[in-house]
Amino acid sequence: MAKLSVKDLELKGKKVMVRVDFNVPLKEGKISDDARIQAALPTIKYILSQNPRKLILMSHLGRPKGKVVDELRMNPVAKRLQELLGEEVLKLDDCVGEAVKKEIDSFAARVVLLENLRFHPEETKGEEEFAKKLAELADVYINDAFGTAHRAHASTTIIARFLPAAIGFLMEKEIENLGKVAYHPDKPFVAILGGAKVSDKIGVIENLLDKVDVIIIGGAMSYTFLKAQGKNIGSSRLEEDRLTLAGDILKKAEEKGVKIILPLDHLVVESLDNPASARVTDREEIPEGFLGVDVGPKSIERFKEELRGAKTVLWNGPLGIFEKDEYARGTKEIALFLAEISAVVVVGGGDSASAAKKFGIKDKVTWVSTGGGASLEFLEGKELPGLSIIKDK
Ligand code: 3PG
Repeated sequence: MAKLSVKDLELKGKKVMVRVDFNVPLKEGKISDDARIQAALPTIKYILSQNPRKLILMSHLGRPKGKVVDELRMNPVAKRLQELLGEEVLKLDDCVGEAVKKEIDSFAARVVLLENLRFHPEETKGEEEFAKKLAELADVYINDAFGTAHRAHASTTIIARFLPAAIGFLMEKEIENLGKVAYHPDKPFVAILGGAKVSDKIGVIENLLDKVDVIIIGGAMSYTFLKAQGKNIGSSRLEEDRLTLAGDILKKAEEKGVKIILPLDHLVVESLDNPASARVTDREEIPEGFLGVDVGPKSIERFKEELRGAKTVLWNGPLGIFEKDEYARGTKEIALFLAEISAVVVVGGGDSASAAKKFGIKDKVTWVSTGGGASLEFLEGKELPGLSIIKDK
């Protein structure tokens, strides 16, 4: 059943409040990736086209832990949004209270951005009184903050009890695309899972085991799986306490007829800061004194072979330490390959989204999620409170 959409509500002449996820990365006070602001634009522009009285945007930025942290004010976001919209964005210094209410009503600007919601501890505690205070600022509430939909916070979830509420276009697209892979993928369905930790991906693997045909595992988490198979992994990152679990997953996959493909070779170094020591192993074992930093060329070819025939691909987690150019080959080659194949390709947020951006494939795949934790929880089959609070159509 579809959720009520921004298109289902009357917005003309109304004060429309939108929870967005403008939690963008900042470097020395500047936004280093504005993807989340860009992703909210379709909803923002649609609302403005409906002649609302005001458009009130609100978000968190970072984790200020209930206190005002000057470096986490929303000012750079307001500036960037104003550039993108070509319209004045009034940035306020708080997000609730009489002064905020007055400012919203008295200024000529149609678009208002509230101050970082997490400067108030009540936000992350999901306090009802705080949610009510936010609700008092508007007539209608739209949640378009997919990246924060897994948090039952005042502005993402509780507020929907007090105003007519619907989801925005970004939320709709995220659910449509992640839902396609998580619930009704066209087969063959291949998942590529990587990243540092097995523990981060257990929920996703378990949820996918009934749907997927092949799981390709790369990144540091592959070393724990190899070790569980009794392979030598040198001094590569190992999650000892997940060894049994990794073994169980391999067994379960076999029982269910899911093919698990682990790296056949690796790029290894003596230490992370010594790229000059890099060499490629000739098999899946890693010699003593070396640690894995990327998958090797044989693995890349093997992974491509599986991906070639796929109709649906989910990619979650890099295959090596791609932030360092010397260790980026595996992630880069697979990313570029994903841009070429004709499958539905969904990239599940966080580090893989950064990799998709870095290697220029963002607009060449079906969908790159704006959610990190939220996309993982969705793929684990969990309910997202920010979504479930919104009524069905
Ligand atoms: C994210 O970046 O994943 C979201 O904005 C949520 O942020 P949080 O993990 O601090 O709640």
